[in-house]
Amino acid sequence: MSNPISIPLINVSEQNAALREEIQTAVMSVIDSGAFVLGPEVTKFEADFQAYTQVKHAISCASGTDALLLPLMAENIGHGDEVLVPSFTFYATAGSVSRLGATPIFVDSDATYNMCPTDLARKITSKTKAIIPVHLFGQMADMKKILEIAHAGNRKIPVVEDAAQSMGAAIDGKQCGLWGDYSAYSFYPTKNLGAMGDAGMNATLTEEHAERLKMLRVHGSKVRYYHELVGVNSRLDSIQAAILRVKLKHLKTFEQNRGRIAEQYTKLFTQTDLMKRELVHLPIHVAGRHHVWNQYTVRVKNRDALRKFLADRKIGSEIYYPLAMHEQKAFASTGAKRGDLPFVEKLEAEVLSLPMFPELPLAHLEIVVQAIVEFYKN
Ligand SMILES: Cc1ncc(COP(=O)(O)O)c(C=O)c1O
Repeated sequence: MSNPISIPLINVSEQNAALREEIQTAVMSVIDSGAFVLGPEVTKFEADFQAYTQVKHAISCASGTDALLLPLMAENIGHGDEVLVPSFTFYATAGSVSRLGATPIFVDSDATYNMCPTDLARKITSKTKAIIPVHLFGQMADMKKILEIAHAGNRKIPVVEDAAQSMGAAIDGKQCGLWGDYSAYSFYPTKNLGAMGDAGMNATLTEEHAERLKMLRVHGSKVRYYHELVGVNSRLDSIQAAILRVKLKHLKTFEQNRGRIAEQYTKLFTQTDLMKRELVHLPIHVAGRHHVWNQYTVRVKNRDALRKFLADRKIGSEIYYPLAMHEQKAFASTGAKRGDLPFVEKLEAEVLSLPMFPELPLAHLEIVVQAIVEFYKN
């Protein structure tokens, strides 16, 4: 049976259209100000972000990727150092480590798709110079256990939270960004808070780290033309800051809508026998963790055939991620290979992210779940 409407995986245009006038006014005011890089609008966005997330220090930068790179630079990580990262993540988590000449060491995932603390503990060595847990798809990794491991005995391994997909997520009411020494956020357009281009943010717990990050993002200088550190150019564009300030005012509403969609998916799936037949596994949402649902990702049997079946019915879906980092060519020199991480390898074969964006009508979810039921009838 063909579906008369198309249900995309994500649609950013609808949200932008609803905010069109507010955004236009904000962008015009930056154009009129003549300040396009950092400047007052960026400072205001950093303050708004800090108020929203409760983080101690917010230092914007050009992308989520740079927001991972800068803390590692601040910690002088380089050749001979190891940094523990999950394998089941976007490339940037591990890429930032390799770019500095250090070695990413890949950690298996637990049932929430996040870094498995047990595997993490096994992989710590004297060369471990940082840990980057990723809060994947909107739910935080097990930060309590991860910090316990990072701080066991006398050691104090720096922890960089990759919060690119999870701004606003929390454990027991304490938001991401308040746990690790540093945190990295992305405002790539598909994130819960999305810019109209690239943009990122660092958060950190101490004034000293904040000062270093501020220098590193502008060629290592505090005073123009005097360079104390070797830094990069990673400044936030004022137009993106102005757009993000408009959207931040609506983020709580967007997040509530995402929560409602996730709840409805779970309710609809629970009314089927797909889980009992072990054809579909729903995302595991741990009690006490506030999930911000950047993705609603299920694990399914015959994933690729199902994805095609949905596409034929104009239902979007995506595989985040089809090839885990320990199997990527780019990281072959680490010695990591297929066979190393059993649960991650299961995930890459089974995961499927279903349509999820704040403006998605709840009625469309019935069409999605019905199509999945129909697929497994055959
Ligand atoms: C987990 C994770 N880390 C890092 C990044 C990098 O962010 P950006 O695309 O803003 O550079 C992303 C974004 O795609 C991500 O999903």
